[in-house]
Amino acid sequence: MTSICYDRRRFLARAGLTSLWLAVPGAFAEQLALTLTPRQAEGPFYPDKLPLDTDNDLIIINDAATPSVGEITWLSGRILNARGEPFRNATVEIWQCDQNGAYLHSRTSNREKRDGNFQGFGRFVTGSTGEYLFRTIKPVPYPGRTPHIHFAVKMKGREKFTTQCYVQGHPGNERDGLYKAVRDPKVKAAITVPFVAIAGSPIGELAAKFDIVLGLTPPA
Ligand SMILES: [Fe+2]
Repeated sequence: MTSICYDRRRFLARAGLTSLWLAVPGAFAEQLALTLTPRQAEGPFYPDKLPLDTDNDLIIINDAATPSVGEITWLSGRILNARGEPFRNATVEIWQCDQNGAYLHSRTSNREKRDGNFQGFGRFVTGSTGEYLFRTIKPVPYPGRTPHIHFAVKMKGREKFTTQCYVQGHPGNERDGLYKAVRDPKVKAAITVPFVAIAGSPIGELAAKFDIVLGLTPPA
């Protein structure tokens, strides 16, 4: 049995490290306009009953000893406007099916095979950099859909924004109705991210970066 020694302090330390790249002044400011992230349907599987644990680590529920099954992925990005200015205090939610194609939802298919160790849903509130971070699994296909992770961005006084992010290079993408409906290659690229092996990770972790660019102005 594979066991992953998990330490919450180490997780937090790594979360801090990933923020270093944000310190480059003007990294985004010099760009005239970033491609807006397209809205995508929320879909029918936003949890109808939230898990007991809704933190940003979907691999471990509370202090469980057993992690979920799947390819562990550090999923991060920023919530920005088209000028690259960050949104703080944005609640970023993700939800996705487990390794067996089962969602945390009473009407999911494969319910009997659901991985009880996968949180299936997580939340992160952005700070001043607009950055979010989750530890989750690389999404897998289920009948009718190419692999994807659902996102919702919630901000006070703003309409909820939902979208989905896709795995770059997955052969199922071009057969997926929702994905194909995005015609503009630039817009398509904005929701398609590489899942890259983290060099030196002894357990084969992956990293994926997905920025969400909103057609809104951050509050002053
Ligand atoms: Fe879905």
